[in-house]
Amino acid sequence: MRSGFGSVSRSSITGIVLIVTLCCFHVFALKSQLLTRHGVLVDSNAKDSVISYKTLYFNQKIDHFGFLEDGTFKQRYLVNDEHWHQKGGPILFYTGNEGDITWFCNNTGFMWDIAEELKAMLVFAEHRYYGESLPFGKDSYSDTKHLNYLSSEQALADFAVLIKELKRTVPGSQLSPVIAIGGSYGGMLSAWMRMKYPNVVVGALAASAPIWQFPDMAPCGDFYKIVTQDFAEGGLNCDVNIRKSWKAVDNVAATDSGLRWLSSEFSLCSPLKKTDVAGFKAWLQETWVNLAMVDYPYEANFLQPLPRWPVQVVCKYLGFDPYSVSDYQMLSAISEAVRVYYNYTGSAPCLNTSSTATGSLGYIGWYYQACTEMVMPMCTDGVQDMFEPQEWNFQAFSDECHALFGVRPRADWAGIFYGGLDIASHSNIVFSNGGLDPWSGGGVTRNISDSMVAIVIPDGAHHLDLRYNNEYDPHSVLSARAQEVEYFKLWIRQAKKQL
Ligand SMILES: *[C@@H]1O[C@H](CO)[C@@H](O)[C@H](O)[C@H]1NC(C)=O
Ligand SMILES: *[C@@H]1O[C@H](CO)[C@@H](O)[C@H](O)[C@H]1NC(C)=O
Ligand SMILES: *[C@@H]1O[C@H](CO)[C@@H](O)[C@H](O)[C@H]1NC(C)=O
Ligand SMILES: *[C@@H]1O[C@H](CO)[C@@H](O)[C@H](O)[C@H]1NC(C)=O
Repeated sequence: MRSGFGSVSRSSITGIVLIVTLCCFHVFALKSQLLTRHGVLVDSNAKDSVISYKTLYFNQKIDHFGFLEDGTFKQRYLVNDEHWHQKGGPILFYTGNEGDITWFCNNTGFMWDIAEELKAMLVFAEHRYYGESLPFGKDSYSDTKHLNYLSSEQALADFAVLIKELKRTVPGSQLSPVIAIGGSYGGMLSAWMRMKYPNVVVGALAASAPIWQFPDMAPCGDFYKIVTQDFAEGGLNCDVNIRKSWKAVDNVAATDSGLRWLSSEFSLCSPLKKTDVAGFKAWLQETWVNLAMVDYPYEANFLQPLPRWPVQVVCKYLGFDPYSVSDYQMLSAISEAVRVYYNYTGSAPCLNTSSTATGSLGYIGWYYQACTEMVMPMCTDGVQDMFEPQEWNFQAFSDECHALFGVRPRADWAGIFYGGLDIASHSNIVFSNGGLDPWSGGGVTRNISDSMVAIVIPDGAHHLDLRYNNEYDPHSVLSARAQEVEYFKLWIRQAKKQL
């Protein structure tokens, strides 16, 4: 999915990607927005965990907010009720984000780990326009008219209607309090679900949810600063060498023989041309960003199969004195470092600069969302971060969106609709963030009230708390999970009292 868009954006501007990031030039900006680009699943513990669920479909309205379009589509959702207590056991409801819901389901071991203790039913609902939940089937992405019903508002309404329907049709569920859970963009949705539909969900866990990564809510440079800190702490000189590598790429790529050398040194699938150099640098940049996001304390396979603490492993190759090496030596080391990310399993025949993570995410859908209401400014200055300076340029971003989709982003809408920084009147939301996660820069990391709570996991990367328990988990994530479960129990008690 991503390939088409990726190449468009890279050639036209240069870019990065949110779960992945839409950023580098503008694209760069766009990419930074795919919160979590994901790849494949299964970590060492998950292998032994048996995940079993029923796959169900619900006839969902294509348009919840207008009355002309009266069609429906099949929204996919997954259910496991083996531990559910029919008399009032809660429903843990995963608010699906920009990808295949089975992939999120498999990567949210936390819910599977706590289902028995809470006697909970697990429901994972797919976000419209991703996975199998396509409002217009194969035509869903054919043009802007068909994409018109892709928005967070429609997705939240889907979740609310689906929950109402479950309560109506599943015997025993009428008394079940529903808790929304999500990570990354899915975490934004779970928080917003509680804000917009407090009659439907009693509380929400919003893990690594950058609800403040919008204009005028967080500094645009925080994201890349955090990436840089991760590499600075990953090993001696690591960030310094990456900062110096951009110029080395320019120098070497200036000649044809240099381009040939780069293509061969990096084992690229297709030879680098002069016009590809910006795209090549964007690919490197995105690689560092992805590594920071999935810097987990154990071997895992989220965006790519990776060793434990992958940033430290990468930094082992980049510990040399930056002033003692030639450009070629520098880039030779960089090429070893990126292979940690792309070839940990030893099965990559070559490195493909049009791809940085596996395919369970819907990149084009996310780009469209970034180009409409999910406007997340990103910038770099090359001083406080290790990247080439790139300002946030809304106009350029908007022009790129217009060229791609024929639409222009509404920069202020998310703030107006979801409350921006002004969310103190809400209740029962836990925001968890990992200190290593670049997305924590746009997250809620301070307590807002007794029931709008921030949990910080200093040595956690992107929603580590949503993953299965693992023997290598740092204490901070174990205690975060325990605290989260205590809040769930509190919300459940509160809900029961009100019955
Ligand atoms: C590189 O990745 C793109 C996008 O995923 C894909 O379309 C292309 O086939 C890949 N090229 C090779 C040589 O694997
Ligand atoms: C998720 O796990 C199920 C069951 O193990 C498997 O069938 C499915 O392919 C997985 N989904 C993804 C996207 O990996
Ligand atoms: C990946 O690792 C294998 C095993 O070490 C090696 O044979 C192969 O050349 C590597 N591929 C790349 C692109 O580095
Ligand atoms: C917010 O409050 C909770 C509960 O008192 C506490 O555990 C947590 O550390 C606080 N979070 C921050 C970021 O101070």
